[in-house]
Amino acid sequence: MNPKEEPAERKNGYFGPYGGRFVPETLVEPLRQVEEAYERAKKNPQFQARFQQLLREYAGRPSELYFAENLSLRTGRRIYLKREDLLHTGSHKINNALGQGLLAKAMGKKRVIAETGAGQHGVASATACALLKMPCVVYMGSEDVERQKLNVFRMKLLGAEVVPVESGSKTLKDAINEALRDFCAHPDSYYLIGSVVGPSPYPEMVRDFQRVIGDETKEQILQKEGRLPDAIVACVGGGSNAMGLFYPFEDDAGVKKIGVEAAGAASIVNGKVGVLHGAKTKILQTRDGQIEGTHSISAGLDYAGIGPEHAYFADEGIVQYVPADDADALEGVRLLSESEGIIPALESAHAVAFGIRYAKTLPEGAIVVINLSGRGDKDVPTLMQHWKGARTTDVQGETALPPGIRADKDVPTLMEKLGLEKTEVKEKTKSFDVKEKVETA
Ligand SMILES: Cc1ncc(COP(=O)(O)O)c(C=O)c1O
Repeated sequence: MNPKEEPAERKNGYFGPYGGRFVPETLVEPLRQVEEAYERAKKNPQFQARFQQLLREYAGRPSELYFAENLSLRTGRRIYLKREDLLHTGSHKINNALGQGLLAKAMGKKRVIAETGAGQHGVASATACALLKMPCVVYMGSEDVERQKLNVFRMKLLGAEVVPVESGSKTLKDAINEALRDFCAHPDSYYLIGSVVGPSPYPEMVRDFQRVIGDETKEQILQKEGRLPDAIVACVGGGSNAMGLFYPFEDDAGVKKIGVEAAGAASIVNGKVGVLHGAKTKILQTRDGQIEGTHSISAGLDYAGIGPEHAYFADEGIVQYVPADDADALEGVRLLSESEGIIPALESAHAVAFGIRYAKTLPEGAIVVINLSGRGDKDVPTLMQHWKGARTTDVQGETALPPGIRADKDVPTLMEKLGLEKTEVKEKTKSFDVKEKVETA
């Protein structure tokens, strides 16, 4: 990690007007202790060496920056995927869970609290706690418990206690509420938050643990292409994978940074300033300040708030935020599965769908990096349910290509423009019949 000097408006837990620590009095001292411990850990070579070792030997970093040849041929742009899906536990969440797990251990904490939406942060926290021998309790909205059953089972197998949350919309917001309540009641526990949200110092700390995504991407793309990408794209729930990718590119004005929110939970696009989960940020709220209900097919993006640094990046024009809906995400899953043999998480599929569409607006040969934040195993039940009874052409084939995707017949001319050898192109194999597979499963 190579900390950069922050400008004055981004110090003391604030990012311009956003951030801060709006918490009940019982949490003021525990949060001050987390901040102090983190400041020490940043400067402690042993802590940093252990963190880097775990990232490398346990999580499997660096993750690959994969040139998606088939997508590139289809779009005429050079598409790269940052493969966080290949990490241990299946998503970027492990980076932060290991960092904060080590911090909890260094602070001598005996119990860890976490929240989860899609279950990936819950699994990553349960994993870190099993490794570091700390009991772990994970709060999860009961709707998410239902739609991410596989991850609930994984957490339990890893020794964590999973507590379903029945209040509110029974999703991520409610899980964070409950985790904060537990933290208030047990301030001697460690709250291992899963995204760049919550009171200071969490947003900056989670960003620092996730910036490895962007640091690696920069190095890898320079090695492969000899220049920085034209655009980098990531999905945004609370915003940790996106912040991890964008932060090291912040000063690279020539690199367009695009955060893709779920259309039914687009806090930057449709939100207003308010306080949620201890931080001032952009929030989806009613006229009288109540948190608005959200919807997304992906549990991990189904959140009414967003990390405060993203709110700042949006105001400053550093990152552009756009919405993608459920249909886009499903299209992203289908497209990536069929064209590259990679089944993405529904969260990441939002970035895939928008990233591909956006790439088409750039000149031919442009370089676009899409962050593949996680793998899709956890979403298979949702996908099976969604595509049950669908006509084959709804889920595969040319008719379902997103607008602007080039048909395979144009491939030979594109190959030349992309500098690819003719022999590199594989025959388009017959894709499997999703409907048939779903119905016989
Ligand atoms: C695979 C994956 N990607 C993205 C997210 C969204 O979180 P964040 O915006 O913090 O990266 C989640 C959340 O659970 C996830 O599981």
